Amino acid sequence: MDIENLNTNGFPDESELEKIANQLFKSAPGGLQNNSGFSEQVHNQYEHNDTLKQSDGVNDLGKISQNLVNNNNLGFGKVTKSVAGSGISPSAINHPSDFSLEDPQTSLPDPHFYNGQIPKSVAGSGKSPSLQNQDLTHGNVTSHNKLPFETEQPFEHELKEVLSQINSTFPSSQLPHVSAFGINENSYYFLTGQNPLQYGNQLFGGANQNQNTHGISSYVKPPFDINLVKADFPILKERVNGKPLIWLDNAATTQKPKLVIDRINHFYEHENSNIHRAAHELAARSTDAYEAARKKVQHFINAGSVNEIVFVRGTTEAINLVAQSWGDQNLNTGDEIIVSNLEHHANIVPWQILAAKKGLKLRVIPVDDDGQILLDEYAKLFNSKTKLVSFTHVSNALGTVTPAQQMIEMAHANGAKVLLDGAQSVSHMRVDLQKLNPDFFVFSGHKVFGPTGIGVLYGREEILNSMQPWQGGGNMIKDVTFEHTEYHNAPGRFEAGTGNIADAVGLGAAIDYVNKIGIDLINQYEHGLLVYGTNLLKQVPGLRLVGTAADKASVLSFTLDGFTNDQVGQELNKEGIAVRTGHHCAQPILRRFGLESTVRPSLAFYNTCADVDALVTVLHRLKSNQKRSLF
Ligand code: ALA
Repeated sequence: MDIENLNTNGFPDESELEKIANQLFKSAPGGLQNNSGFSEQVHNQYEHNDTLKQSDGVNDLGKISQNLVNNNNLGFGKVTKSVAGSGISPSAINHPSDFSLEDPQTSLPDPHFYNGQIPKSVAGSGKSPSLQNQDLTHGNVTSHNKLPFETEQPFEHELKEVLSQINSTFPSSQLPHVSAFGINENSYYFLTGQNPLQYGNQLFGGANQNQNTHGISSYVKPPFDINLVKADFPILKERVNGKPLIWLDNAATTQKPKLVIDRINHFYEHENSNIHRAAHELAARSTDAYEAARKKVQHFINAGSVNEIVFVRGTTEAINLVAQSWGDQNLNTGDEIIVSNLEHHANIVPWQILAAKKGLKLRVIPVDDDGQILLDEYAKLFNSKTKLVSFTHVSNALGTVTPAQQMIEMAHANGAKVLLDGAQSVSHMRVDLQKLNPDFFVFSGHKVFGPTGIGVLYGREEILNSMQPWQGGGNMIKDVTFEHTEYHNAPGRFEAGTGNIADAVGLGAAIDYVNKIGIDLINQYEHGLLVYGTNLLKQVPGLRLVGTAADKASVLSFTLDGFTNDQVGQELNKEGIAVRTGHHCAQPILRRFGLESTVRPSLAFYNTCADVDALVTVLHRLKSNQKRSLF
């Protein structure tokens, strides 16, 4: 494929990229063929190719391909010691001396990108040079501010490589639609009782299937090249107890693509400086990188303004910030806060602390036996004292997707503000804040393939600007005298002191990565994988699924008769399979089901049916050994 119309930087222009990308997706499994089995809606999303139009996320599958090439040079670390199943820090891995990562420089920006030109000085202004040239109100970032990291890939060559691999790896006719499971897309599978095994041959004619020892067929094909994607995550090449790592603990934290790891390295090698506070070159680089990440977050969650994005440590800190600032300022004795029974501790305890301090009342929305919000009961909780509803978008313990939009509308109709906890949703589904319309939204970077220690508080701009700062110091001020301090507006007023600059930049790279695959594709694929896993787990004797909502994401909590949850976790660990066992920092919802803990596999887009098969195989083996020992 020849690319014409190169722009002045020597890269194809956007419409050209779009054309190529459309061809890519036509070639990719789940692309545009009518027999792909995807819904009309998803089909149209490909046609319009929204994700590929994003200016920050110009189709860069070439990079993914490059990572694959680079990663092929990786060897496996040598496992020297293991503490399998202890739940404590696991094996110490000694990399053999010849273990070498490809020189990250080869895939990183030219360190001379800045060409020795120090951007315009803005010493002490609190603004980066390039930000001065941007109209943040309207969200414009001029193209010359793009890092070479984002633009310098030899696009044409690598795209060809990706295309050739996808064409040869995944004939699109093999892609099933969830309707193949006898369900429709929106209502789930728990009631159907269908045996997924019966579909294998029907869908694929028995060819090209991976059969494990239980005859389980791996048939949910991702709408992207899973081999390329897996290869982008170096840690997925680890071995645990001599077995390839299978990471099914994504609700606790997600793994990081090499792109993110490299981006953070690059920051420390070429950009590291404090931000917003000096006239020198590196201050400009780091400030630009940090503010570009903020912009990426804004686009990712479709916030109205970049000023609505506050960097914090994570979900927990974001909720505590709202409680201690907005809550302390606006709630008074007798006022009520509604949370749901599904909440993790981070969305319970900060409100309890505030309630104790201010004499507030916490009210709880109950759930049904499937773990679904009881909307009728929710409606009954409102009264004139209700000031805030704070609830999760997706339950970390059960996987329930809450009817967020409806719940937000109900809260607003009753004059309450809303905090929506997106910790478990942003990596699995499109989050459109202008559509959902919460007053606050929070998430953690590490749960969306970014680094730990960085997260986001979104707040409606006028609300943030009316809130008192919760921490003072550093550059959150406009002016300080001993008599009086004037604060910046958001986001600066909530970013006191030196923040986690490098990891904010890393989060921006993680968002780029997700955008490149496309969150809607991710959602569709994971949906299929969840259906697949659910149906297989249901066939394990003595297994109780905990959380069977019609609308779920990622999480497959269960208990297994005759085994403690830790025993199951330890047996899985022996096979290199990582799941969380325990209370998942959400004790109230587990107790709603009469439990103190569960085993909790949780999926991400880099998981496959083969991963699920491996999990289920261990469970079957445990049960059959148990049966034998009874006789
Ligand atoms: N909230 C994280 C989890 O669900 C830690 O595991």
